[in-house]
Amino acid sequence: MIPSWRPDAGQARWLKVALFLLCLAPFVRLGWLAWHHGLGANPIEHITRATGWWTLTFLMITLTVTPARKLLSQPWLLRLRRMLGLFAFFYGSLHFTTYLWLDQFFDVGAIIKDVIKRPFITLGFSAFVLLIPLAATSTNAMVRRLGARRWQWLHQAVFVIGTLGVIHFWWLVKKDITEPLIFAAILSVLLGTRVVYRLRDTRPEARNRSVVRPYPRGRGAPSRGKA
Ligand code: HEM
Repeated sequence: MIPSWRPDAGQARWLKVALFLLCLAPFVRLGWLAWHHGLGANPIEHITRATGWWTLTFLMITLTVTPARKLLSQPWLLRLRRMLGLFAFFYGSLHFTTYLWLDQFFDVGAIIKDVIKRPFITLGFSAFVLLIPLAATSTNAMVRRLGARRWQWLHQAVFVIGTLGVIHFWWLVKKDITEPLIFAAILSVLLGTRVVYRLRDTRPEARNRSVVRPYPRGRGAPSRGKA
């Protein structure tokens, strides 16, 4: 068993800064490539694909926090989850904006037609729409307003979003399905861990042991993250 480590306030701040810069790296890289004409023959396709890939990757990383926290007995990992989730939203917004602006030139009629006609766009669009309330309710104030239970219930939608994202990817690839298959496998494992935790938590002895503290140390974030 790995000994539980708890960063002090200074270490936690540095950890967050380092993680923020790391999460921003794919965006900086895209900007660098764009500036140096390194996005290939079809820059719009390059940006759409890169931002889509990073959206899905950040969704998976966000979903890994809870099992990692429990398996490694590192409760402080939970403090990084919000930033990771918001980066999923950030890359999702870039992905959608690229489509809206550079691909469709804000032609609302063409976009509506595309969303209705092409199933992979329908799924991507639905996933993005579902991400919006999760990003909007990510603040401590919103957690307090909704209450921990309702907040946790709402944020379980991240599994639906992940599933829609994986199918969206699967449907758009023409030949090699290796990558969507890897994402599907990761998502299945992450969903599987939640089922195991849920079954363990519903045992009477576990229910007696678990004390629900919605706002640890008065910070407003739920203490027993389910997502
Ligand atoms: C949570 C939301 C979304 C996720 C997770 C997601 C994920 C992805 C992924 C992984 C790819 C493929 C990247 C690659 O080829 O490596 C992709 C491509 C794409 N996505 Fe999304 N997407 C989302 C939302 C959307 C939305 C809202 C739209 C537009 C309405 C959209 C339109 C596209 C298009 C046009 C492509 C490129 C298709 C091609 O290359 O032929 N996506 N997306």
